[in-house]
Amino acid sequence: MQKMIYLRLIPTLLLFLSIQFLDPIVAQNYRPSKGIEARVNALLAKMTLDEKIGQLTLYTTDWGSTGPTIREGYKNDIRSGACGNLFNCHTIGFVHDLQKVAVEETRMKIPLLFGYDVIHGYKTIFPIPLGEAASWDLEAIEKSARVAAIEATAAGLNWTFAPMVDIGRDPRWGRVMEGAGEDTWLGCRIAEARVHGFQGKKLGDTDAMLACVKHFAGYGAPIGGREYNTVDMSERYFREYYLPTYEAAVKAGAATVMTSFNDYDGVPASGNKYLIDGILRKEWDFQGFVVTDYTSTNEMVNHGVVVDEKEAGELSLNAGVDMDMQGGIYQRFLKQSLKEGKVSTKQINEAVRRVLRLKFELGLFEDPYKFCNADREKKAMLAPEHRAAARDLARKSIVLLKNEQQVLPLKKGQKIALIGPLADNKSELIGNWNGAGNANDCVSLREGFSPAQGSLVVYAKGCDLEVTDRSGFAAALKAAQNADVVVIAVGEGAMMSGEAGARAELGLPGIQEELVLELCKTGKPVVVILMNGRPLAIPKIAENATAILETWWLGTETGNAITDVLYGVHNPSGKLPMTFPRSVGQVPIFYNYKNTGRPYDSNSKWTSKYIDMPNSPQWPFGFGLSYTSFGYSEPKVALKSGGNLLTITVNVTNTGKLPGEEVAQLYVRDLVGSVTRPVKELKGFQKIMLQPGETRELKFILTEKDLSFYRRDMTFGTEPGEYEIMIGGDSETVKKVKVRL
Ligand code: NOJ
Repeated sequence: MQKMIYLRLIPTLLLFLSIQFLDPIVAQNYRPSKGIEARVNALLAKMTLDEKIGQLTLYTTDWGSTGPTIREGYKNDIRSGACGNLFNCHTIGFVHDLQKVAVEETRMKIPLLFGYDVIHGYKTIFPIPLGEAASWDLEAIEKSARVAAIEATAAGLNWTFAPMVDIGRDPRWGRVMEGAGEDTWLGCRIAEARVHGFQGKKLGDTDAMLACVKHFAGYGAPIGGREYNTVDMSERYFREYYLPTYEAAVKAGAATVMTSFNDYDGVPASGNKYLIDGILRKEWDFQGFVVTDYTSTNEMVNHGVVVDEKEAGELSLNAGVDMDMQGGIYQRFLKQSLKEGKVSTKQINEAVRRVLRLKFELGLFEDPYKFCNADREKKAMLAPEHRAAARDLARKSIVLLKNEQQVLPLKKGQKIALIGPLADNKSELIGNWNGAGNANDCVSLREGFSPAQGSLVVYAKGCDLEVTDRSGFAAALKAAQNADVVVIAVGEGAMMSGEAGARAELGLPGIQEELVLELCKTGKPVVVILMNGRPLAIPKIAENATAILETWWLGTETGNAITDVLYGVHNPSGKLPMTFPRSVGQVPIFYNYKNTGRPYDSNSKWTSKYIDMPNSPQWPFGFGLSYTSFGYSEPKVALKSGGNLLTITVNVTNTGKLPGEEVAQLYVRDLVGSVTRPVKELKGFQKIMLQPGETRELKFILTEKDLSFYRRDMTFGTEPGEYEIMIGGDSETVKKVKVRL
């Protein structure tokens, strides 16, 4: 028995030890290191125009399901110097072979960059980014990116296409799974954490990889939530809500930026000089390189802003795009464009410099095979401390949405009917963008139930994800009738969100809802485990289920993390990073809306509302329950001179019977402004652990920047007047205090 306890403590201990090595990294823009410029210039002076264009070219390999291959044409392109960078190419054998061609068979011997979408883990898969964001645990999120980088760089990679920092206010858009949700302030903090995690202490370390902030800019706001669709909004709105996360990532040191597929204000991002040259380079002083998204330069022909691909390439280079992903446009047309004077040698040289600098920075010229160490590759993948970190973050990402009759935590010895299309599944649980993750390494929910928890589990699938076949219902209902508690895992398949995963409906696919409601009719307590990549609209389940856990897709440690929470080994503390609507008709829906001239009034028809549904969401931003409860005192506010503007204090008490963590959230409202202001905006949070009965005083500091906004004349700053400060455990349940500045 004692041995068991010690064994259970091992992952926690490993995690503790590994976190000790996670030094805080100071945020600062990427700057080329001293001495690099001379080396870059010396190299550049020897390069032909074709070789220069090769450095601005990025191609994918044909990574197939059974293993890596590469089209012979690309190998020739590497050999001739026409392709200087590859993506979708990992594992050291594969990388080593191609790097060898580049450094041994080309004239200039310039090493290749190897990029890949390492989004939420490489081999050890962590929760999808939206799930990680629900942890509100910046240290754990940074650690997740660090582990991903440690594994990915041990597999030959030196560049990740992450973090995606697009703000997502529309759950129909499938890529919300890859971001940090709807809030700009939280999104900025998470963007910084992820950049620090991927890039480590310094570029040049063998476990540091280039981060790539994407998708610049505004990709998260396509009209109707439809993938790749047009983005159009006022500049004020764009700067206030959509741009700050990219800026935060750049200022945290991100070395590269990816353009987006969409147009903004009529100009596609990959040819948008105002965005790239203006905002990114001139306003934010970004010194790394800019890469397009996959063939997004070519797509400017479809956008209808250029007559052909040659002109598309000119628009991109003139806008400030350095590298062409997969389009082959620079490779095919840039020479001709130069001849015609449509682009200049100076522009090409500058783009090449930006790419070469980072190759030097990574230390590839000293050792092009530095990311190809077989011993490291063997040791790093799924290392026990990586799995421990994944389990830790997976538990923290779970959000308890409902818990009636105190059905959770489950009690030892209860007979469980485990039901649902995702209860015994592994492949969907590692989610979309799952790197080199292997479903077989994933702990399914069914496997997470262990005899050690004293549970007796009877499993019946019930139905599949997207079918109309009800033949499994009978067995599921029978299992439920013979059980003490029903646990049912339902949701989406991994490919139902992510890129090109927009949905017009937000309910559970297929007949899953019907199955849940049938089970609820048995009168047994029903615990619904949601596994999905976006907020869902499930009002009937919200009403009828006894308990609901939002678990997103939690990755390799899914089953362990969920049962840790089900049995109370871990008290849930996750909070929603996106609003959950009651109906798709409410979308877009977000907590920081404007008051309007006719704010919602349930008694008056002539106010801003729907006639068939309340304005309020099913579950608001920041919401999440615990097995204990928390109370907040009235906040107190003090004015401060000398830099810090306001100090706010509040007492938070654990009013329940179990130790638990709470995310205390601080919101601000500027009551009267020169332009309309949101009814609240998140400006801080603290995650704290409290013992039963324990009270902690929390102190928040609001600086001038926190209260600044784009005023009527578009200058950024504060305005005197009255502010409302709100603190609470979610965006709706808050205590308020007013202050005049
Ligand atoms: C297209 C996606 O939009 C982008 O996020 C990704 O990095 C590239 N493909 C490369 O896979």
